Amino acid sequence: MPLILTIESTCDETAAAVINDRLEVLSSVVASQEKFHEQFGGVVPEIASRAHVERILPVIDSALSKAGIGLADLDAVAVANRPGLAGSLLVGLMGAKTLALACDLPLIAIDHLQAHIYACRLAAGRDVFPCIGLIVSGGHSNIYRCQSPLDFTPLGGTIDDAAGEAFDKVASMLGLGFPGGPALQRAAEKGDPKKFRLPRPLLDDDTRLAFSFSGLKTAVRYQLYGVGRPEMDATALDPQLVADMAASFQAAIIDCLAGKAVLALRQTGFNRLCIGGGVAANRPFRERMEQLAAKHSFELHIPPLSLCTDNAVMGAIAFEKFKAQQFETLELEISAGLERPKVERAANGRSA
Ligand code: KG4
Ligand code: ZN
Repeated sequence: MPLILTIESTCDETAAAVINDRLEVLSSVVASQEKFHEQFGGVVPEIASRAHVERILPVIDSALSKAGIGLADLDAVAVANRPGLAGSLLVGLMGAKTLALACDLPLIAIDHLQAHIYACRLAAGRDVFPCIGLIVSGGHSNIYRCQSPLDFTPLGGTIDDAAGEAFDKVASMLGLGFPGGPALQRAAEKGDPKKFRLPRPLLDDDTRLAFSFSGLKTAVRYQLYGVGRPEMDATALDPQLVADMAASFQAAIIDCLAGKAVLALRQTGFNRLCIGGGVAANRPFRERMEQLAAKHSFELHIPPLSLCTDNAVMGAIAFEKFKAQQFETLELEISAGLERPKVERAANGRSA
């Protein structure tokens, strides 16, 4: 049975997994770097790439030994080479190329965003394409028409910050630590989501599948400290105020994500939605999407929490290319950036 080693190092997790062609996971290892980035309130690219260098070989070794196999048992090596932090991507790519060369293995390129949606396919245990794909992570907030696992058409996305980035920055403003998403969700449990009136940017515009979270973040800052006033030490903030602001912010961002996801389904006529990326781990967001799926009768797929945040299991998408013998040469490069999604024009002139 063919076995692929998958490698993920696009941001701040170093991960490797061994997967067979029935998409069964023989092993999965994720080394997180949270403790290095915590003091800076966000991922520091230089620190991330250095930490990947230290971890990549032990993580690969551990994935192989947990799977009970050696390098000679592999049939291919796959690596996420786009998009992400340049220095981080390079470490995974060099690791994969080295194995491909030394062990004479076919090399497969993984698109990290397609892999996030493929996590839904893995969790469902059956085909979930075609679908509308919503990716909400620390670096991306995009909506796609996903014809197949490897064929995505961008329909829209954020015009400034990603949803996860907004969670992280607001959490930092509230003194909640890093990564901000889980910490903010916990704080919000004791808060009143109606306590602060925060904007829902672009939500009323039902012609555009676009998000904007930068103004929402600024609105939080102004309501905490006042316009033009400097930020105070977050530890001086009243815990109930922190909880209320966390709940109010979370409610606003969920309204935006949920509203545009439903709009994408309505505009395209699709009735299947797959959500991936770290913010998909947010419990109130998952609950809201489940309610909406029941109300509007669409099929919803959200992976379990461990497959929402970065991992190498979602690299199982490599089998889609393995079956088609779509391999790369050792000239394969990284591609750090993402083209801004071009909003498709439908026949009626409205964005679709
Ligand atoms: O997909 P991911 O692991 O990495 C990227 O590809 O960016 O996403 C990480 C992001 C972080 O911004 C983190 O704060 C956010 O996902 N996140 C959450 C939750 N868990 C992780 N945001 C909201 N609620 C959560 N429970
Ligand atoms: Zn990711």
